[in-house]
Amino acid sequence: MGPFPSPCFVSILGGPAENLTPVLCPFCGVIRHAPCPLPLRMVRPEVYMHVSKLFFWTAGFLIAGALTCSLWFLRSHGFSAREKPVWYEAYAARHLRRLSSEPGARSLKNPVAATPLAIAEGRDHFADHCAACHGNNGSGKTEMNAGLYPPAPDMRQASTQELTDGELFYIIRNGIRFTGMPGWGGEDEDNWKLVGFIRHLPKLSAKEIELMQEINHLEE
Ligand code: HEC
Repeated sequence: MGPFPSPCFVSILGGPAENLTPVLCPFCGVIRHAPCPLPLRMVRPEVYMHVSKLFFWTAGFLIAGALTCSLWFLRSHGFSAREKPVWYEAYAARHLRRLSSEPGARSLKNPVAATPLAIAEGRDHFADHCAACHGNNGSGKTEMNAGLYPPAPDMRQASTQELTDGELFYIIRNGIRFTGMPGWGGEDEDNWKLVGFIRHLPKLSAKEIELMQEINHLEE
């Protein structure tokens, strides 16, 4: 049984040290009297060493190449808030956001009943505070939103409507970090009415949009 002084994967994975071929560990450079766990165990140590060096150099070149390309892309391209995020960026951001919300917030239910009065109150509040970015109809087609990165989504769509009451409430109260969405703080009851109004967005009537336009004079 040969001595195995340092933690070397060859000796750790190599099993019992009988019938051994000498193997040069590619990491620590020490000759081990242990079977090499890689398929290369049958080849001569010099060849094994050669192949593993080749592997590490190739990997090194690929990583360096990828880094150079990304740097080149960033320098020649720059960042503009007027662009639209690519799908995987939007996907990652949404999932990170979910991770960052308060535990328990997701399961909260809107305690304010969706009466016509509550929805109308939410609507006026939305027209006043939210429509500049989100649009009266929630589409996000506003001048301000065109320059935001990430932009406010069309809140009539499933991606917003499928958020729980609690998630919407949490977003309105706390905002979304690193985006244009401010945390409004505010009274809980007012925020719940906003949640009720966001749920109502897909069914918004032309008359309701007119009433909002009287408040904010926005086009949509
Ligand atoms: C200054 C612009 C701005 C204002 C004003 C604003 N928002 Fe937002 N809001 C955003 C942006 C940008 C996002 C998207 C953030 C992201 O991508 O995570 C957003 C996202 C949201 C979302 C999450 C939607 C989803 O599907 O991810 C809700 C809900 C929301 N806003 C509600 C409101 C309410 C209610 C108000 C008014 C009280 C308001 N916002 C005011 C910019 C704004």
